[in-house]
Amino acid sequence: MGLLNVDESKIRYTPLPLGRAAADQYTEKMNREYDWMSRVYDLFMFIFPRWKVWIRSVLPHIVGSEILEVSFGPGYLLTRYATKSYYRVSGIDFNKRMVALAQKKMSKLGAMVELRQGKVEQLPYDDASFDTVINTMAFTGYPDGDRALAEMKRVLRHGGRLLLVDFDYPKNRNRAGYWLVRFAEKVGDIVKDIGAALDRAGFAYEDRAIGGFGSVHLFICTKKDD
Ligand SMILES: C[S@@+](CC[C@H](N)C(=O)[O-])C[C@H]1O[C@@H](n2cnc3c(N)ncnc32)[C@H](O)[C@@H]1O
Repeated sequence: MGLLNVDESKIRYTPLPLGRAAADQYTEKMNREYDWMSRVYDLFMFIFPRWKVWIRSVLPHIVGSEILEVSFGPGYLLTRYATKSYYRVSGIDFNKRMVALAQKKMSKLGAMVELRQGKVEQLPYDDASFDTVINTMAFTGYPDGDRALAEMKRVLRHGGRLLLVDFDYPKNRNRAGYWLVRFAEKVGDIVKDIGAALDRAGFAYEDRAIGGFGSVHLFICTKKDD
């Protein structure tokens, strides 16, 4: 440990809500917050454009043509790829207002996407339907990360990609990145050891630090044989 780094003993992950009922309660509480956040989310991204840069980092890693974006929020990222005619894009988000906002953006752009309201924990898609699943800045908001990963893996084709961007502690444990992650937890996120969760889910992955003093990670994950 140096002055600029935190001791390993300080690396703590958020205790998970216990049981299905507590998990659902957490999601409902966050969903009420997303109702009002939907009104200011685009403004937030305008004021803080790094966010857009972080989530756009997935774009060069998309493979194939069948794409699913899980938890697209107000749909900024969709506007950056869903208009391309060689993609067939589906999307799902739990918050109805977010779905309506994203749908409006897609209609304005004339993009043919299939957006619906629903939960990552129960994706309404057949096994092995997608080449790429995109998930940005949402994983730390899921009460059951293992379940979410299992579902995203199930709907991916063999060799397909999960592109996941979210906060986790910086690998070098620097203080600035550490406090950003602690802040995310303060505002309600469930901070997870994402690498360990991807290991448990059986993904092969590369973990790239893309910002926030190493606290914003892009995970480029490949579905392997079980
Ligand atoms: C912080 S926003 C991220 C939006 C966007 N992907 C981005 O990168 O800015 C998190 C989104 O996750 C959605 N969400 C939260 N829990 C969910 C769940 N269990 N299933 C599906 N979507 C969920 C919320 O409705 C919200 O739109």
